Amino acid sequence: MNNIIVTGGLGILGREVVNQLLKNKNNFVIIVDKDKSKKKIQTFKQHLKKVKFLKIDFTNKKKIFSILKKYKISTVFHLGAVTQVLEAYNNPYKTFNSNIMGTINILEAIKDLNKSINFIYSSSDKAYGELKKKEYYENFPLEGDFPYDVSKSSSDLIVQTYSKTYQLNIGIVRSGNIYGPGDFNTDRLIPHVITSYLRNKKPILRSNGKLIRDYLYVGDVARAYITLMNHMKKRKQKLYIYNVGSKENFKVINLVNNIKKILNKSHLKPIILNNSKIEIKRQKLNYNKIKRELKWYPKVNITQGLKKTILWYRNNLSLF
Ligand SMILES: NC(=O)c1ccc[n+]([C@@H]2O[C@H](COP(=O)([O-])OP(=O)(O)OC[C@H]3O[C@@H](n4cnc5c(N)ncnc54)[C@H](O)[C@@H]3O)[C@@H](O)[C@H]2O)c1
Repeated sequence: MNNIIVTGGLGILGREVVNQLLKNKNNFVIIVDKDKSKKKIQTFKQHLKKVKFLKIDFTNKKKIFSILKKYKISTVFHLGAVTQVLEAYNNPYKTFNSNIMGTINILEAIKDLNKSINFIYSSSDKAYGELKKKEYYENFPLEGDFPYDVSKSSSDLIVQTYSKTYQLNIGIVRSGNIYGPGDFNTDRLIPHVITSYLRNKKPILRSNGKLIRDYLYVGDVARAYITLMNHMKKRKQKLYIYNVGSKENFKVINLVNNIKKILNKSHLKPIILNNSKIEIKRQKLNYNKIKRELKWYPKVNITQGLKKTILWYRNNLSLF
């Protein structure tokens, strides 16, 4: 059996990474998440023999060491984090503790207990900070300004130093905005807009609608992580860093209008608050490197992705 840890395995990305890992019958997945809500765990019900849930906060260093001592692990996908820009703004200490110290705890455990473990980290396009050129490339400096962004710039650099200094096997993924089925967080734009429209309500936008982002379907992003894991097993390098971007790069308002059109809600115009001062204005990732080296590219376009996502929210609306 190939034992794999997925932290944040109950989040939108973690859930999909776990599902894709479970397609290989040799994988046994240990989910480390401080959440243990039944509605999220139910999604793995059919695989219970191949999944173990550990309700653990990874800021607890002792517990992290004990899991790594107990199980012979081949790969850790470290996907758990405080992920909301607004939550990070309101709780900087918690954010830095989770996203930076929590990450260090896992790296320390790998360094001290078993350096052969592959560690794959979910960084973000936000680690780069404000975009000063046409697109972000992997060799650009990491210079976030706001708490969430800084938590990703710093943890990304810290993860790199454990590879460069202590020879850990590290993969880093810097992806754009992820959407898809299974996102229970209606503070996020796409879940909020879809559930509002499904209930015949006007969605509320915190921004002015003009922020520009890359949008990626969760299945495509999870496939990038698994492809990287398989590539790392060949052990040619110690450190791999990839942007995971998309051709779907547009303004928030265009995305909202797209959802409105699919759901035939043209009479429900979004309410634009324009009170978000802590967001990068424009983001776009160049993802030629992962295309060239790992043959990964996004397969699901925005209309297909939104339709699949809407269908999931329609079928699960009672959970929200
Ligand atoms: N969603 C996006 O658009 C996006 C884009 C780029 C990068 N990322 C990164 O990808 C990763 C996964 O994102 P997501 O959208 O799936 O997040 P999510 O918010 O949906 O899920 C995160 C999970 O981490 C868990 N968690 C948080 N702090 C924890 C702690 N201290 N101990 C244990 N569990 C903890 C939460 O309970 C939650 O289940 C994150 O690192 C995020 O920063 C996300």
